[in-house]
Amino acid sequence: MSEKKFNTIQYLDRNESQYGPSPKCYEYLKTVKIDDLSWYSRDFARGVKSKLSERIAKDFGFKENQVILSYGSEDILKQLIHRYIVRGDKVLIPKEAWWYYKKVAYEVGGFNVEYPMRKGKFDGVDSYLYDVDKMIEIYERERPRVVVIASPNNPTGNRITKEELHRFLDACRGAIVMIDEAYWGFGSTDNSYVKPYIDEFPNLIICRTFSKYFALAGSRIGFSFAGNNLEELKGFTTRYLGYNLISENLAMIALDDTEYYQRVTKMMQEDKEMFYKEFSAMGGFTAYKSFANFMLVDMPANIRKDLDKFLKERNLLIKFLDEEAFKTETRITLGTKEQNKYLIESIKEFINKQPS
Ligand SMILES: Cc1ncc(COP(=O)(O)O)c(C=O)c1O
Repeated sequence: MSEKKFNTIQYLDRNESQYGPSPKCYEYLKTVKIDDLSWYSRDFARGVKSKLSERIAKDFGFKENQVILSYGSEDILKQLIHRYIVRGDKVLIPKEAWWYYKKVAYEVGGFNVEYPMRKGKFDGVDSYLYDVDKMIEIYERERPRVVVIASPNNPTGNRITKEELHRFLDACRGAIVMIDEAYWGFGSTDNSYVKPYIDEFPNLIICRTFSKYFALAGSRIGFSFAGNNLEELKGFTTRYLGYNLISENLAMIALDDTEYYQRVTKMMQEDKEMFYKEFSAMGGFTAYKSFANFMLVDMPANIRKDLDKFLKERNLLIKFLDEEAFKTETRITLGTKEQNKYLIESIKEFINKQPS
């Protein structure tokens, strides 16, 4: 199996969907009309931001004005930080974090303090875990203005349970807490805590996106639920002339096609199980439990460079991390069944070629 299977680069390094959105999204795009392209939406005149915010509010049992729309979670994170952080303020983020968390506070003169994850087992699989005691200890010592929790977290793939989240929120009522749920849906579709927690914790904002589970990253659309103390943020983020109508329509079509997304998620779940099994059989590899569309894999440091080259020759790109928290880990974005099988076969072929 040494020949190239794919003629173009397979990007298994960027946490984008390789399956794409619901086929109904493509059907809609073939029939776009003038009012979606040339007109502003009339929704603001009706007293709501948009049909999408209305729809999401209804689905989750919120008033429409508690829903914030944004150009994805990156956008709402940036707006939140730019609205609330001033020079010298602290933002508490995970040490094992998405690169943009590390950067955003500095855009406005703030700075980061970090809380570490711990390692353990989840359902018998090696896992990163939120360490809530440690987080509370660091929160009390540092008193940050904003706290960011990612659930599931990128690149570790673990999530915080709703009980742990409640305990943490209870301990840090003095800060604004953002839960970034960009990778919601892959390991759990639980929404039961969203409304009760937003009602109970007025400084809480829970952020979701259509980029990952719904595979609409190019449409740049996301939504958040904000507690009652975040009124200024709601005003700050509102676009009175409306949002991208095509993106909103795509999002609503995606929300309706639950059957398609469940089918894709099931295929990805099967491949995650395959990855746990295959990697655990390879000496020196550890695959971490993932609730996302990617998996963090620790591997022997001495093979990284050659493996990277070997895979690139086969048009396969995975992300060899190189940062303080991750020196030997690689993040693999789950692809299609065909891509995943080819990737694991290629890694095995590489390993078998190594001198013992
Ligand atoms: C943890 C995390 N949050 C947010 C984002 C950004 O997502 P969006 O496309 O919604 O801006 C990413 C992108 O990879 C991410 O990894």
